[in-house]
Amino acid sequence: MSMFPVVRPRRLRASAKLRRMVAETRLHPAMFVLPLFVVPGEDIANPIRSMPGNFQLSIDRLIPVVAEAAAAGVGGVILFGIPAEKDEEGTGAWDPAGPVPEAIRAIKESGLDITVWADVCMCEYTSHGHCGVLRGEIVDNDATLPLLARAAVAYADAGADVIAPSDMMDGRVAAIRSALDDAGYNELAICSYSAKYASGYYGPFRDAADSAPAFGDRNTHQMDPNNVREALVEVEQDLAEGADMVMVKPAGPYLDVISAVRATVDVPVVAYQVSGEFSMIEAAAANDWIDGDRVMMESLTSIARSGAGIILTYFATRAAHKLTTQKSESQ
Ligand code: PBG
Ligand code: ZN
Repeated sequence: MSMFPVVRPRRLRASAKLRRMVAETRLHPAMFVLPLFVVPGEDIANPIRSMPGNFQLSIDRLIPVVAEAAAAGVGGVILFGIPAEKDEEGTGAWDPAGPVPEAIRAIKESGLDITVWADVCMCEYTSHGHCGVLRGEIVDNDATLPLLARAAVAYADAGADVIAPSDMMDGRVAAIRSALDDAGYNELAICSYSAKYASGYYGPFRDAADSAPAFGDRNTHQMDPNNVREALVEVEQDLAEGADMVMVKPAGPYLDVISAVRATVDVPVVAYQVSGEFSMIEAAAANDWIDGDRVMMESLTSIARSGAGIILTYFATRAAHKLTTQKSESQ
């Protein structure tokens, strides 16, 4: 009898078809949501310098991008608006003629088979770039809640499928839920950015959405990267307030948070592979330091393996295409 153990894990790795069969994680295009940046105007596609392949798009240029995502089977798009004008209160956030409500309507009118998510936050709409109204230099939590609720209702009126508050004010899910219900949208889902960390990985996004704070930071409302148990407090609170899905953000550097949340709740767990995660992969790939496609798929697989069922990612359409061509490549 051989001295070698009978257990040989390599047996199930012997061919692509075996590996495919025993895979514990399976990415699918329907689990991806593509973030998009909408600007007023026509025929505008401003490249976002720090995010190759991503643009600030006017609605006429946005629709083909949404159509391509839908054709690839991508599950959703999430819209961020860059308004023509910003003010202290961020009133543009609930303007029914603002870029996001107009874009939602245009996507709905196009009849494309894809969900439309509306991000709810004030920072793209305030002149100071903070996520709510200011009292001195502090973001005033309770004064911000009615503004977020107004924005959510404006996106609901336009036809959004999912309302996604990303501001990290306490009590926002309850405020938005009751405003939506009062407006007759008790069937409309909320995905709360429950565990959103104060992260350096948002750098490129702040270029894209022109939403960097004019002074200070977001450390008094976004979560401290040191904490994971606190994420469960946030998640529990948001579910008690009526959230239908909960999000962890960023994704790749916070896989432990994703798995902790997955182990605790039975609603869909969403993860946001943020701008900095995307840009780092793109920058290394552009230098030929890594294989971009391979790391793209590996990063998404890791996020799914840790427990996310839905992934917001700037790779959504590219990864969806990759999934549909992958089988032939791996044979
Ligand atoms: C706005 C918001 C941010 C992101 C999503 N919504 C930026 C921030 O909080 O500064 C980041 C997304 C990304 O980096 O891709 N509250
Ligand atoms: Zn914000």
